[in-house]
Amino acid sequence: MESDSAKWPDPLPRRSALAVILGSAGAVAAGAFSLVIGFLSNALGRETTRPWMRIGQAEDLDPESFQKYVIQMERRHAWIRKRAPLVTYIKDLYPDDPLALLSTCSHLGCSVNWDSEDGRFRCPCHGGVYDEEGRVVEGPPPRHLTRLEVKIENEVCFVRLPDASDREAVG
Ligand code: FES
Repeated sequence: MESDSAKWPDPLPRRSALAVILGSAGAVAAGAFSLVIGFLSNALGRETTRPWMRIGQAEDLDPESFQKYVIQMERRHAWIRKRAPLVTYIKDLYPDDPLALLSTCSHLGCSVNWDSEDGRFRCPCHGGVYDEEGRVVEGPPPRHLTRLEVKIENEVCFVRLPDASDREAVG
């Protein structure tokens, strides 16, 4: 007569199969969890990519002409952080009412220069020209210069990027 152990397979493989199933389910759950965390990090990251960046004392802003400022901006994507320079031109139109324009040309992204002689921003790459409010007046740029949000707090000037939906804020 055959023994029971010969008739029925050893229960260990069943336990192993169960362990494999549970392990796989755990891996799937962990993957889904990390997707959710990644999504939330991205969502939070997007919010924190618009921090206020300090320019300096408001009284030092020039009311006569645009001055160039280079700010180190921190960009975040999920948990990766990168520092990138942000070039902006700022002029204090009225006391404590500065206008800040991003120097990035809307054509192909070259950095425009302020020409105080004729009051124009000029792009060195393809001849794009913008007026002193950042509006396109000549050349291939399809959009105006991006206007940054500005605030004065405790006599200090801060700027930040507008919402992506609000990038063409001039005009
Ligand atoms: Fe400025 Fe082309 S990149 S005109």
